[in-house]
Amino acid sequence: MANLTFDFTGRSVVVTGAARGVGRAIAERFTGAGASVFLVDFDADAVAATAAELGATGIAADVSDTAAVTAVVDRVVTDTGRLDVLVNNAGVLRDGVLWKLTDDDYETVMAVHAGGTFRFTRAAVPQFRAQGSGRVVNVTSYTGLHGNVGQSNYAMAKAGIIGFTRTAAKELARFGVTVNAISPNARTRMVESIPQAKLDELAAQIPMGRFAEPSEMADAVAFLASDEAAYVTGVVLPVDGGLSI
Ligand SMILES: NC(=O)c1ccc[n+]([C@@H]2O[C@H](COP(=O)([O-])OP(=O)(O)OC[C@H]3O[C@@H](n4cnc5c(N)ncnc54)[C@H](O)[C@@H]3O)[C@@H](O)[C@H]2O)c1
Repeated sequence: MANLTFDFTGRSVVVTGAARGVGRAIAERFTGAGASVFLVDFDADAVAATAAELGATGIAADVSDTAAVTAVVDRVVTDTGRLDVLVNNAGVLRDGVLWKLTDDDYETVMAVHAGGTFRFTRAAVPQFRAQGSGRVVNVTSYTGLHGNVGQSNYAMAKAGIIGFTRTAAKELARFGVTVNAISPNARTRMVESIPQAKLDELAAQIPMGRFAEPSEMADAVAFLASDEAAYVTGVVLPVDGGLSI
């Protein structure tokens, strides 16, 4: 049986939050598969450095800023004539128990996760419709599905992404566009920021007994973004070693 390798030659791919972590691994997966990849991140220095390492294009932009998001989509379409894959991955944490969270903790997390996903997907729709094709892969979380102490703001944003994914999937199916999400569980800076005792507790709950490498998230995203996944839409795919079973 031939190996299943997803080919993205000639495709234009945008990955948000791509300076590091899961986003970087996703961007690397697409550059390795022949795509023109645009890495978008709030952190201008880091995204420039990562893009240079990957031989891709780095763009400093805030996904919660409509004008910045529109400018990214316009640039991608101007440079390559298309936009094939959008991966809404950018994220931040502002953890704390509900009664200690500030308005800013709530608004920042909502604006980046839910707001960024909404704004970027909305901005991509005209090009997707013109092409009659497109792939959106959003990034949600176990917390959005099941909740987690200290993350009510994040849970709300990530649960919102699930409802958004299913709704956009229904709205965009007629245009040949699929919209799916992954629920990751990878060893990144975001995970490293969790206290060690909590990390050990979490790892013990994962049937696989370990956190994934970010590249394992990228493989799932590549599938959902591939031609082979044309009939898969509105799905939330846990890539979590069985954590959510
Ligand atoms: N690592 C995990 O196990 C895990 C689990 C569940 C969900 N996730 C989700 O996966 C995604 C990536 O997580 P990660 O672990 O790689 O995190 P990370 O902190 O390593 O990377 C997130 C990136 O997003 C960028 N970013 C933050 N705010 C931004 C903004 N307003 N505009 C543009 N870029 C912005 C950051 O600069 C950073 O480079 C996030 O959405 C996160 O919630 C991760």
